[in-house]
Amino acid sequence: MENKIIVAGIGPGSGEYVTPAALNKIRLAKFLVGGKRALAEFSTANQITCAITRDLDAPINFVREKILLGEVVVMVSGDPGYYSMLDLLRKNFPPSMIEVIPSISAMQLAFAKIALPWHDATLLSFHGRQPARAALEYSAGKILGLLTDAEFNSATISKILIDCGWSGNSSVTICARLSYPDEKIFTTTLEHAAQSLPVKHCILIVK
Ligand SMILES: C[S@@+](CC[C@H](N)C(=O)[O-])C[C@H]1O[C@@H](n2cnc3c(N)ncnc32)[C@H](O)[C@@H]1O
Repeated sequence: MENKIIVAGIGPGSGEYVTPAALNKIRLAKFLVGGKRALAEFSTANQITCAITRDLDAPINFVREKILLGEVVVMVSGDPGYYSMLDLLRKNFPPSMIEVIPSISAMQLAFAKIALPWHDATLLSFHGRQPARAALEYSAGKILGLLTDAEFNSATISKILIDCGWSGNSSVTICARLSYPDEKIFTTTLEHAAQSLPVKHCILIVK
């Protein structure tokens, strides 16, 4: 039987959001891939590990080599199906070799934190990309949930949204470091966020 690549979501950060299913696979893994923070938290001395850095060839080559010897577990933040290394793994290995363990996305946690259902929200990513202008344009009742990065942060995105027809008085909730002890969640206006110090790598909920 072919060995599987297990892509395990580890939630938004804090260990309390890691599912028992993911934890079980991570603990049993002989070959473990993940970001440095995840490896520091979950790996043990008897596991053979590979860190995910900017050089994405390294973890892919590690998986290609180790999968011949046994199951490889790849830890990704949040949910694997939502902007993770799963895309790259699917480009390099057939889906039949991949098993995904879903988890809680930072986006889900952000909406949960403000007790706002997300079934009607438009979810878009500014993480290393820019959504199409049409998707960002204002319409009455629209709710946006946005992933950000360092360049596209709370300030730059607020300016873009005002340019896309949103009122400066629209509400933006900035959710940073979700689930960590220094989690910060606050609501302000787009106008104010556009002129304030940028918050990077956070979730923005705009309505
Ligand atoms: C490449 S995406 C990964 C999304 C991940 N797969 C998920 O489902 O949450 C990285 C972005 O997710 C958001 N993010 C991830 N963890 C976060 C956290 N703990 N608090 C706030 N935003 C977070 C930030 O916008 C960050 O730049």
